[in-house]
Amino acid sequence: MLSLIKQPVTGKRVLVRADFNVSFESDGKTIADDFRIRAALPTIQWLCDQGAKVVLMSHLGRPIGGKEEQKTLEPIAKYLAKCLKKPVLCASDCVGSDVEDDVLAMQNGDVIMLENLRFHKGETENDPIFAKKLARLGEAYVNDAFGVSHRAHASVSAITKFLPAYTGFLLEKELETLSGVLTKPKKPLVLVIGGAKIETKLPIIKNLLPQASKVLVGGAVANTFFAAKGLGVGASKIETEFIPHAKRILKSSRIVLPSDVLATPNPLGRARIKFRSVRTVRDGEMILDIGPKTTEQFAQIITKAATVVWNGPMGLFEIPAFAHGTIDLARAIGAADGFSIVGGGETVTLLRKLKLESKITYISTGGGAMLEFLGGKKLPGLEALGYYRKARSRK
Ligand code: 3PG
Repeated sequence: MLSLIKQPVTGKRVLVRADFNVSFESDGKTIADDFRIRAALPTIQWLCDQGAKVVLMSHLGRPIGGKEEQKTLEPIAKYLAKCLKKPVLCASDCVGSDVEDDVLAMQNGDVIMLENLRFHKGETENDPIFAKKLARLGEAYVNDAFGVSHRAHASVSAITKFLPAYTGFLLEKELETLSGVLTKPKKPLVLVIGGAKIETKLPIIKNLLPQASKVLVGGAVANTFFAAKGLGVGASKIETEFIPHAKRILKSSRIVLPSDVLATPNPLGRARIKFRSVRTVRDGEMILDIGPKTTEQFAQIITKAATVVWNGPMGLFEIPAFAHGTIDLARAIGAADGFSIVGGGETVTLLRKLKLESKITYISTGGGAMLEFLGGKKLPGLEALGYYRKARSRK
């Protein structure tokens, strides 16, 4: 892959794919977590300092029917203007003659934010015609959006056919750190997996299991594993079609499931919350957090690890009564001496709220992308940059 740092960019229009898919407060305007924006700043700042004309592109959310006012990138442009201490124009669209005029009027060091790429279905369809329209706006392309590199979308994949493509600093840092976990992790390596959607978590469990001393499983994912062991999970959410996969994984003694949980028949009502052994969950009850014994056990394992990789909450942490497991685990990872890597939007937002960001060695901007990369899958955005080609020729 070609690194941006070696490129002469002064006076050039450089099209940068960033991942500004951030969360907002309930007013829909205030940015709740600026982590991804801050992570993208080194590349943008460097390009400005070199006198490039910086054309930023990103998606925000998953708009379905063209332009959606709530999913405009205007608030991000405003926020970036504050960070960079210079105006950042938000274009009215991401392709078309008006945008081309805006870009052609740029001076060296200027920054423009294109409007949400997903307002056009060509983006998610990886449409080469749409990619070519985007490419008209730049003379060089930079992928600095690790968080969306697991998507075969026009701005991360097809566009590389039309412009010389380079890796941004954020992407390089992600690849260097995460590939280190795959190839030479300091051991003992402990993987902590929570959240829902077991389908997205199985690849990372399978891929890291041979290297890991323990894989700690919590959150809704654990329910499917409980069911695979024949334990009653009451009314908890399980993903039945993945029970056979869970059974196969459970053959490893390195998988650690919770021994106690918090359960209730109704998380939003006044029903009492019970501390239960995993063997005594009643019909109609939902498992919504790991229990204190499990938290203690997980924390002890984490303390002894040389590397900890964490993705996904241990329970329904949006409701304070079911946030203890996740919060205590975040604190344990923050306090541990080992190298810690955390990814996943909601987990990262929680770390920020708990003021634990600085206690984690590396926070990834990727949620799904981190899971897929560490799960050993080929990411289309990286494939388009030649990442796997190079890896093969190195062997
Ligand atoms: C993310 O938030 O994980 C990335 O921005 C990708 O978003 P997507 O899941 O909507 O493709």
